[in-house]
Amino acid sequence: MIVALDGPAASGKGTLARRLAEAFDLAYLDTGSLYRATGVATLRAGGDPAQEFDAVSAAKTLDLTLFSSADLRTEEAGVAASQVAFIPGVRAALLDFQRNFAKNPPDGKTGAVLDGRDIGTVVCPDADVKIFVEASLETRVARRVKELQEKGENIIEARVRADMKARDDRDKDRSVAPLVPAGDAWILDTSDLDADQAFAQAKAYILSKTRR
Ligand code: DC
Repeated sequence: MIVALDGPAASGKGTLARRLAEAFDLAYLDTGSLYRATGVATLRAGGDPAQEFDAVSAAKTLDLTLFSSADLRTEEAGVAASQVAFIPGVRAALLDFQRNFAKNPPDGKTGAVLDGRDIGTVVCPDADVKIFVEASLETRVARRVKELQEKGENIIEARVRADMKARDDRDKDRSVAPLVPAGDAWILDTSDLDADQAFAQAKAYILSKTRR
């Protein structure tokens, strides 16, 4: 079983994806980490994440040990990720890894949950279940501010809002694999839901789709 979970930044899809993977005993891939790792690797090499040559070189030589680095979770990494994600050559370089993960999930699992922006539309168009997770900009800004404060980061709310809006626009407006729900995706708006409620609704939906 392949579950595709797409949605904008801080919509709650990461937490939801992790919990669904555990509940259904599936492997989990946070595809945003691939773009974050590419962005961070580009910066570390002294390159510019908005420049095609620099970003594609980083994507093609991606060091998988970077995945667990705390550097990936900063706002700077998020911005660099959405810049490299704009470049078609970067998306092409990361596509095989994602499809291979879905087709051959690690650890003997019989399926996978992938979360990102284009899983239901491009990476796994034949996924058994597609969920598009949404939340209002204000809800997402509030969640991200809380998350960064808990990590002890010094943040300015207006800056987080501006960065998130810029990322949303870049993710939605790019020509290749823009952030858009697949035609057959179920829309889950988490603006007024806590993590437990979102999980309960998504789990019920998956069971309704997969139980004959
Ligand atoms: O989900 P996230 O915030 O970790 O993603 C970081 C950036 O990576 C996001 O701005 C867009 C990009 N991304 C993408 O273009 N396609 C994906 N499948 C996953 C992430």
